[in-house]
Amino acid sequence: MKPEGPRFSPLPDPIELPRIFDARGNLTAIESGVHVPFAIGRIYYLYDVPGGASRGGHAHLKNVEFLIAAMGSFDVILDNGQDRKRIHLNRSYFGVLVPTMVWRELDNFSSGSVCLVLASEHYSEADYIRDYEEFAAAIRGGRS
Ligand code: TYD
Repeated sequence: MKPEGPRFSPLPDPIELPRIFDARGNLTAIESGVHVPFAIGRIYYLYDVPGGASRGGHAHLKNVEFLIAAMGSFDVILDNGQDRKRIHLNRSYFGVLVPTMVWRELDNFSSGSVCLVLASEHYSEADYIRDYEEFAAAIRGGRS
């Protein structure tokens, strides 16, 4: 049997979410299976991020995440083991869907920013790859 080759997850572009405009303030809703292609199993958010801090620095085996700059702005750096891209999120009606086996880092947080994350899975440390070399080796080995 031929060994499996590298398996590179596609790097996403930001997705624009619908907005309900209202003079009293705008509204955006996100529904499982409609705006994100997974059942939302967990919600968490990053806030009070000090200037110059960097978050992330890992990939997930099973967990898929949708990242939104609910407040302020930050950059999402995505790396699939072959290509790397930087996405600046600065609108609360744009999100980035991060597939499994994509290395992500977050930096360039503006003061007072909030990164809202919708995740497909409950928190599990066993689902993380936190070492970049281990991640790159897993991609080369075709693991996904
Ligand atoms: P981590 O996912 O490494 O943070 P980030 O990628 O945003 O930099 O998580 C940081 C710590 O918080 C780590 O000890 C695990 C814990 N944690 C939870 O307990 N539950 C969660 O849902 C998440 C995302 C993290």
